[in-house]
Amino acid sequence: MCGIVGYIGPKGAFDILIQGLKRLEYRGYDSAGVAMVDADGKINVHKSRGKVANLERVARAGDTSGSLGIAHTRWATHGEPNDINAHPHVSQSGEIALVHNGTIENYAVLKQALEKHGYTFKSETDTEVLVQLIDYVKHHNQCTLQEAVREALLQVDGAYAIAVVEKGDPDTLIVARKSSPLVIGVGEGETFIASDATPIIGYTDRVIYLKDNEMAIIKRGGDLSIRNVKSSTPTQIDIQQLKLSLAQLEKGGYDTFMLKEIFEQPSTLRDCLRGRITDDCSRVVLAGVEMHKDVFLKAKRITLVACGTSWHAALIGKRLIQDFCRIPVEVEYASEFRYGNPVLDSDDVVIAISQSGETADTLAAIELAKEKGAFVYGVCNVVGASIPRATDSGTYIHVGPEIGVASTKAFTGQVTVLTLLALAIGQLRGVTDKDTVRSVASALREIPDVIEETLKCDPEVKNISRIFTYAHNFLYLGRGYNYPTALEGALKLKEISYIHAEGYPAAEMKHGPIALIDQEMPSVIIAPSDYLYDKIISNVQQVKSRGGAVVAIVSKGNTAMNDIADYCIEIPAVPACLTPLVASIPLQLMAYYIAVNKGKDVDQPRNLAKSVTVE
Ligand code: G6P
Repeated sequence: MCGIVGYIGPKGAFDILIQGLKRLEYRGYDSAGVAMVDADGKINVHKSRGKVANLERVARAGDTSGSLGIAHTRWATHGEPNDINAHPHVSQSGEIALVHNGTIENYAVLKQALEKHGYTFKSETDTEVLVQLIDYVKHHNQCTLQEAVREALLQVDGAYAIAVVEKGDPDTLIVARKSSPLVIGVGEGETFIASDATPIIGYTDRVIYLKDNEMAIIKRGGDLSIRNVKSSTPTQIDIQQLKLSLAQLEKGGYDTFMLKEIFEQPSTLRDCLRGRITDDCSRVVLAGVEMHKDVFLKAKRITLVACGTSWHAALIGKRLIQDFCRIPVEVEYASEFRYGNPVLDSDDVVIAISQSGETADTLAAIELAKEKGAFVYGVCNVVGASIPRATDSGTYIHVGPEIGVASTKAFTGQVTVLTLLALAIGQLRGVTDKDTVRSVASALREIPDVIEETLKCDPEVKNISRIFTYAHNFLYLGRGYNYPTALEGALKLKEISYIHAEGYPAAEMKHGPIALIDQEMPSVIIAPSDYLYDKIISNVQQVKSRGGAVVAIVSKGNTAMNDIADYCIEIPAVPACLTPLVASIPLQLMAYYIAVNKGKDVDQPRNLAKSVTVE
């Protein structure tokens, strides 16, 4: 979380930085700040609590000159969101300004030592400790800023992506990273830096993904050198081509990114599936599996690790892999797995699922799995992010940038890739026969069209959402493949409308949550016509007989629920293993409209961030 951006070149930095922060705002939006070094070497700093628009207003009233600058949008970890804790932080001497994404774990010890040297602190942040440390090293060692940054970073434990500028030097920008992402955009005589590539698009398509423990010294005019922080030796510069377009980062006529992302699922899933199923549907081809056939043939167990929505996709992945590969599968929250002393060896495959490819807990889980000898496979969206680079192999979901904080198209992309993966491994191990592969793969190939059809429920869902806008609690129930769908539906509602919602296996509901049901507590029941349909009907009756209102998601043409549920939303019939892909559409829409009815900011819900790069 937190986004950083920087610029050095011939143009005024301020507008570029503000525009960049707006693109990175999904990473955090508690407070924001900017520092420009003007031609005389003076540092102009502006900070503001709240969103980037506030900062822009505040800063425009002051001096925004300078063609070198750094900026930050914050998701608070150390210290509440206010102007003082906002970045950039400036050292006590007033000479050095710094922005930081990550966490300095040993900040308390460093702070105590700096206090002994006469440093005082204005903020509660770990970042201020780092800028003071650089300042101390620079004065104590009488060295250059570049050397001071390197020396200071050697004393730091934790994760960081930083950008640093110095008073009196409008010609140098220094950046470094460890465990937090940082991208450098190489333009014509100008250079951009950012937490991800989105602020860079539109200026250049040539990027460098800085690696862990690397720092870059960027000079006015475009000169750039990269060195290893630990060894101080120069490292090779690897410029890659960026394949993102500006259109992918805009709302395309929708009111919000979330609505755009819900409605673009037919096309994102077409992109996700492209080239991965043979024309006759007899085979699924995933390069990441093909290149490591031996690993998947000998695997004795598969463990899926993820956080948030990606964890819900993992739960669906478990069922898919169990059904099509007959391998034992476990699903773990990455944050629990990493500290859970897992038993793993070289016969284990760990699949890490992450939209952003940057989630700190998932990244740590991967490192642990690798240490224990497991083979690690990534299912990610953001190309070139830390997780796909840390894994042994993987498959991108290719759904394009997801900007709404509540994940929608990434979830369906993840479930689609996990379905492909289960079929690919199942066919490789000879567990899933050709006919099964053919029938599931051909149904999967139709899913983008089926979702297009499903989206026609939009007006109906919008109407139903009005009835339930002011409910205080919701229960989401599903069984089999759709128990995770229920969890994901509840999470969507919680995230953006701030209504308490619980997802539960429908049959387990009678062991506790049933006590909560009354006229005030609606239930959303995911009940497509599958092998558990009759069972779920009786679960619905249990809710109805306690006076609870029921919204049921049912397969088109199945009328049995009409007399029992209060509202039925029909979705097209698909094989059971694909129902989560379709059933999640009305759930996304329902959460969306309830939040909009309540006047909430759906793209940037309170307290959340899209990319969680801290523990
Ligand atoms: C945050 C986001 C969620 C996301 C989770 C995991 O909490 O708000 O939408 O599901 O992180 O992120 P990842 O990028 O690893 O999928």
